Order: sequence, then C-alpha cells, then structure tokens
Amino acid sequence: MKIRKAVFPVAGLGTRFLPATKAVPKEMLPVVDKPLIQYAVEEALDSGIEQIIFVTGKRKTAIEDHFDNDVELEDTLNKKGKKDCLLDVTRVVPDPGTLIYTRQNQPLGLGHAIWCARHVVGDEPFAVILADDLIKSNTPVLAQMIAKFEENMSSIIAVMEVAPADTDKYGILDSEDMGNRLSRVLGLIEKPTPDKAPSNLAIIGRYILTPEIFRLLDMKKKGAGGEIQITDAMAMMLKEQSIYGYRFEGHRFDCGDKAGFQMANIAYALERPDIKSRLKPFLEGL
Ligand code: UTP
Repeated sequence: MKIRKAVFPVAGLGTRFLPATKAVPKEMLPVVDKPLIQYAVEEALDSGIEQIIFVTGKRKTAIEDHFDNDVELEDTLNKKGKKDCLLDVTRVVPDPGTLIYTRQNQPLGLGHAIWCARHVVGDEPFAVILADDLIKSNTPVLAQMIAKFEENMSSIIAVMEVAPADTDKYGILDSEDMGNRLSRVLGLIEKPTPDKAPSNLAIIGRYILTPEIFRLLDMKKKGAGGEIQITDAMAMMLKEQSIYGYRFEGHRFDCGDKAGFQMANIAYALERPDIKSRLKPFLEGL
C-alpha cells in the first residue's frame, strides 16, 4: 500500500502567537522568507505524496491563496524582469488538483481535525503533518517514515526525547525499543504531568496512520484540554493493531512556540550565505 495522501490540519487558533495570528494563520508565519506551511508541503511532495489535504478553518484563506497562481503579481514581476521572484511565487503552486480543502467548522482538537478529512482520505493509510513542527534533515522525515511503513505496514509516529519536565506539552509513549530507530508502542498518553509520564519519548507532528483511526475518532471522545485528541484514538487503536514510534533523523524546531520559532529563523538564516555574513557578527556581538 503506497502512502499517497497527506493531511495538514491547519484549523487551530494559534493562541500562543496572538496578536500576530489574529488575522494571519499561524501556518503562514515565515521562517526567513517561506511560510511554515510551505516547508511542510515541500516535505510531503519530496516524500512522494500525491494529494495534499488541508483541514482549514476560519481566517485561513491566506493558505489557499498562497498555493494558488496570482496572475496579476506574476505579470508584474515578469514585466519588471524579476525572474527569481517570479520563480519563487510560481514554484509553490502544485499541479492543479493536487490540493484539496476541507473545513473544520470548530477547532475541537487535532483528532477532530484529522477526522474531518475522512471522506477525502477514504480507506487507505495516510500521512499527517503538523506544520508547526519544522524538521531540518537531509532526508525528509516523512520519506524516512514512509520507508519504515513499507517494512512494517503498521501505523508509525515520529518521536523524540524531550526534557522530562516538558512531558505535559506532548503525547507521550510507553514503549519497547526494537533497535533501528523503532519502538513498539505499548501505551500512549496525552500531556501527562512529569510524575505520570511513562517516559520522555514524545510524539512530534508526523504520523502515518491506517484508516481504522477514523472509526475510533468517530466516537468523538474528549480528552486533555476538553479536545478530541489523536493520541486517545491511537491508544484505542493499540488494542487492535500495532503502532510504532520512529526516532527520526533531523533537528526539530517547535515553531508553535515563540522561542522555538525564533531558533528556527536563526538556524535557517545562518544557512543562507547572503544573510549569514551579516547575522553571524550581529549574534556574536549580542
Ligand atoms: P496546536 O496544538 O499547536 O494548537 O495544534 P493551535 O490552536 O494551532 O495553537 P495554540 O496552542 O493555540 O497556540 C497543532 C496543529 O493542529 C492544528 C493546528 O492548526 C496546528 O497545525 N489544529 C489544532 C487543528 O487543525 N484543529 C484543532 O482543533 C486543533
């Protein structure tokens, strides 16, 4: 079974970035000069994904516009001879029909957002990418996970070790190490306080899920924060099928968090020779 479809839940409120996210979707905040959602879509396309499914909500139309042609802008850039800019704005537009939009009418939680894509995904395994988790890696993390899925044919979630004091910010695994970067999941719990956390192995925003997850999300059980959590549905799924945690290769930036977002900007900017020559001496002088 090939992983052809990726779901991008982008309907959250982004409260941690208010007031910036009052009128601008969090996923449109730029790291250097590219919105977070563009990094995520490029990762999916570079991993062989054929259909991008956005679960959007109110005040998110900028995302649709970003991935569409803007004939007036393109015409102006063309007339001004700004060839590089023209390439930048046109290469973000995937082939017509590649992008599909569905809407989460209320931000009831990540699990609920994924459930909103059920009719578009249908009866096949699929990927989920959270754009706030920006991961810098040689091989796209989703491609790494698809390779593991093809070996095991079971759901796989990206995981990493976090500071033990931070377990209440993540879905946390109880798991058994199998080597080769994989762990067999024995249990999952959403945002446990450090004293209740079975480990410090945290779920990061990349998932490959089998379609049975939709039946479990259908129960619309509320969990941590009164939200319908994907972690709770996966915990139920564990009773029926195996789930693996995958320690990805790469550096993850938590761009849903203000400090993490600034770190991502610095790290990505330092990779650009035109910016590095001015930014590095500035940072050293601080
Ligand atoms: P977050 O947990 O970061 O929530 O969601 P958020 O609302 O975007 O941000 P804060 O915490 O208020 O600052 C992780 C991803 O899941 C999506 C978000 O858009 C984000 O990409 N999401 C979350 C939904 O699509 N719907 C929801 O109901 C919740």
